[in-house]
Amino acid sequence: MQTAHELFIHEMQDMLSAERKLTEALQEQEENASRPELKKAFASHRAQTEKQVERLEQAFEQIGEEPEETECKGIEGLIEEYQTFVEEEDPAEDIIDVFSIGAASKVESYEIRAYESLIEMAKMMGHTKAQRLLQQNLKEEQATLKKMQALSKRIKPQNMGMEEEEMEEQSSQRSSGRGRSRKAA
Ligand SMILES: [Fe+2]
Repeated sequence: MQTAHELFIHEMQDMLSAERKLTEALQEQEENASRPELKKAFASHRAQTEKQVERLEQAFEQIGEEPEETECKGIEGLIEEYQTFVEEEDPAEDIIDVFSIGAASKVESYEIRAYESLIEMAKMMGHTKAQRLLQQNLKEEQATLKKMQALSKRIKPQNMGMEEEEMEEQSSQRSSGRGRSRKAA
């Protein structure tokens, strides 16, 4: 590979593959989630991701390239991590919910950085229409990350896995402002 154009297309193909894989993964996340509000969040995020795939395909068209895929190992790794956790750790329902929110936030952070970098490249190369489409996707990813962050503040695990005394000690330390890192179990 020699040119910025080739690099840009490579990165676009990477993102197209990522978004398509995420469409499937979001369905799994929706099925595995137990809280209705979380199921709803994943369902609407899935619908949004399908639109993002369409925008990427349009961006390819704008540049005069075929919408081909390059395997996105980064996103695939994050998806695999999620699946392995659910299949192998025998997690309780509320733990799956908390884990899913964390996994989705990691994906969003990755996507945000990827789109920012694609937008920089599109701008540099004067692909104005493609740039606009990418910017729409970026905006949605940023909004989804915020939504996940809000959900993670609300949805807490039921069992903290700590003794009652230890929890009381921690909360009294928090209120007195003295932080102490928790000993590893
Ligand atoms: Fe996305």
